[in-house]
Amino acid sequence: MMKGSSEYYHCKECNFETSRWLGRCPNCGAWNSLLAIDVSERNVKIEKKDLAKPISKLKYTGDEQRYMTGIAEFDRVLGGGIVPGSLVLLGGEPGIGKSTLALQIAQQLIDIVGKILYVSAEESLRQIYLRATRLSVSSELIYLLSENNLEKIVAQMLEIKPKIAIIDSIQIINDSNIPSAPGSVAQVKSCTSRLMEIAKKENIALLIIGHVTKDGGIAGPKTLEHIVDTVLYLEGERFQSYRLLRSIKNRFGATNELGIFQMENNGLKEVKNPSKILLTSREQPIPGTVTTITFEGSRPLAVEIEALTSSSYLNYPRRLTTGVDYNRVSLIIAVLENKIKIQLQNKDIYINTAGGIKISEPAIDLGIAVAIISSIKNLAIPLDTVVFGELGLTGEVRSVGLCERRLKEAQNIGFKKCIIPYDNGQHISKKYDHLEVKTINNINDIVSLLNK
Ligand code: TYD
Ligand code: MG
Repeated sequence: MMKGSSEYYHCKECNFETSRWLGRCPNCGAWNSLLAIDVSERNVKIEKKDLAKPISKLKYTGDEQRYMTGIAEFDRVLGGGIVPGSLVLLGGEPGIGKSTLALQIAQQLIDIVGKILYVSAEESLRQIYLRATRLSVSSELIYLLSENNLEKIVAQMLEIKPKIAIIDSIQIINDSNIPSAPGSVAQVKSCTSRLMEIAKKENIALLIIGHVTKDGGIAGPKTLEHIVDTVLYLEGERFQSYRLLRSIKNRFGATNELGIFQMENNGLKEVKNPSKILLTSREQPIPGTVTTITFEGSRPLAVEIEALTSSSYLNYPRRLTTGVDYNRVSLIIAVLENKIKIQLQNKDIYINTAGGIKISEPAIDLGIAVAIISSIKNLAIPLDTVVFGELGLTGEVRSVGLCERRLKEAQNIGFKKCIIPYDNGQHISKKYDHLEVKTINNINDIVSLLNK
């Protein structure tokens, strides 16, 4: 192939672009996959309405209409329902409940949106029908299609003109113009772009389902995250029947919102009071556990932190964490050794969050520290006590955001005593009738405070 100045090349496997022809794509490693494209084709005439405009000349109200499903856990994670014409990606491991959730959403939306098209590329009509019956989903307005050919799906979208189209799942859809196998990066990207083009033109909201493996890998959802408007992940497993719906990206709302569901015989049910399920219903306090109040998106959540310390017979003591950041725990251990002089260098230390729920907020530092102290000193923290605060390298307990909402949640759940950073304590505007608030300035003070 000749190298020409008005040409550039793109890889038919992964869409990588380069100005030089190469025998092998440097991005995906495919041989002989670079095709020439004439750049002169790109010199397009721009119509007046498409010209860039000064921001001050634009007028948008911002409160666009949304399709509210009435499933509060889902609507909140989306930032207030599905935006018409938007593209939502719903990812999750196989068998976690994506198809179930999608069908339930469809049923909730028929009264609001009208026609909904559910395309299953994985299952036969009979299988979808049986699941739908189990979920009591039935309507003249929900159209089912068992198809994996992209052009046929597009044709049906144009024919039926639904307001919402659900694609289950994107990895199985096949665009016959792309030589690689369904599920490959090129296929997944090309199919999504084509579906999106139709959806934007016809103002169809698209819900695209994608499988991810345990390590979050394979071609699917990860490669699509930057194309779509909203990315949701449905997670579970350690929670047995509990399912967590998270928003990782949201062009129309806040991210890191968390919705909690329980998988039952007839589908996913909302969990209205999540703090309760994350706490163990034990009668007596035991050393090594403490409850903290964390924020998941816009919602406070009470989570129990467990620590186990045991004598180590290894040169490098074992440090294992589930749900919390390993490096953060190492730092807290170092602060405890240095500032309150407890011996941890010959201890194996294990830290868990109840149910394995992932928390990345520094406000749980104090919870981790107290759990470790509680375990090593064999000191049981009373069940009615909660703690939160960020720990600095000097041992200082730093203030955290949204303190009053945490306190309110603690009181609502029925805790009686809360240990919080001193600085937060200075700015509390209201008195809590059923909650005794104690403040702490430095981690040094914690032991005497716990003994009180
Ligand atoms: P499914 O939605 O098929 O998962 P995905 O689409 O993510 O692969 O749900 C799979 C599991 O959920 C399956 O093991 C059965 C279970 N399930 C229930 O427990 N109750 C129900 O009402 C339904 C429909 C499924
Ligand atoms: Mg499925």
